[in-house]
Amino acid sequence: MFLQLFSILALFILPGSLACEGECIVGITDAWIHNITHGPLRSVAFEFHAAVEKLVPSPDKIPGYYGTPLLEDFAKGGLYDKMSDAIFPSFFHGKCADAQGSTPPGCPNPSCSVVCGTPGSLVFHYDKLFSIALGVARTHLQQVVLRPDSPTRKKMETLLLREAGAKRSYIRGRAGSASPSKDLLQRFHGLIDAILKAFTIACQNGSCDWETEMKSYILTFP
Ligand SMILES: *[C@@H]1O[C@H](CO)[C@@H](O)[C@H](O)[C@H]1NC(C)=O
Ligand SMILES: *[C@@H]1O[C@H](CO)[C@@H](O)[C@H](O)[C@H]1NC(C)=O
Repeated sequence: MFLQLFSILALFILPGSLACEGECIVGITDAWIHNITHGPLRSVAFEFHAAVEKLVPSPDKIPGYYGTPLLEDFAKGGLYDKMSDAIFPSFFHGKCADAQGSTPPGCPNPSCSVVCGTPGSLVFHYDKLFSIALGVARTHLQQVVLRPDSPTRKKMETLLLREAGAKRSYIRGRAGSASPSKDLLQRFHGLIDAILKAFTIACQNGSCDWETEMKSYILTFP
């Protein structure tokens, strides 16, 4: 009786190799968000800060001050679902099994050339995984910086306006009206618009070469 039950269970469990689920999905999604946030996004945010700082100096030279809303946006979790969906159900999904229900050679680890939801497949198709992750981040960034109604874009504007207001020399409205000059705002918006372009090329100097550590991290999952 016990053996029968076991073999029935085995029928459901054994075909195909282990897919990335639960902790594996969470861990890998978080790893991409972490590396992108601390790598290309951070350098773009600091570049932006340095450019805005030339328009209106920031208080006490807080490092990266004008770029902080950008980094906070990525860190606070708004990107998680988009990243996880794009990597897993949309591309790397399902257990690896051939038509007979057996595991193809190299699967699940470490070199599963079939596109499926195993760590070995994620590693084998690393370039695809990389481009999915960067693409999601870029699309998110585009919404965050370019949409006029984006709360993060508004926060970036608020920081500038606050500093410009605190330093009255940057306010050049009509007598009595405390609004920053049109020219200042135009230049600021130009710098915001340039963020996306900067992000697109931020990985070109090899600073996003996470292949070795990312692959070994992925293979820590069964
Ligand atoms: C990228 O992610 C991997 C896996 O979490 C980690 O080992 C590595 O330190 C990260 N690299 C950077 C530069 O953040
Ligand atoms: C790559 O460029 C970014 C700026 O786009 C810079 O912050 C980073 O330090 C550079 N990395 C290397 C390895 O040159």
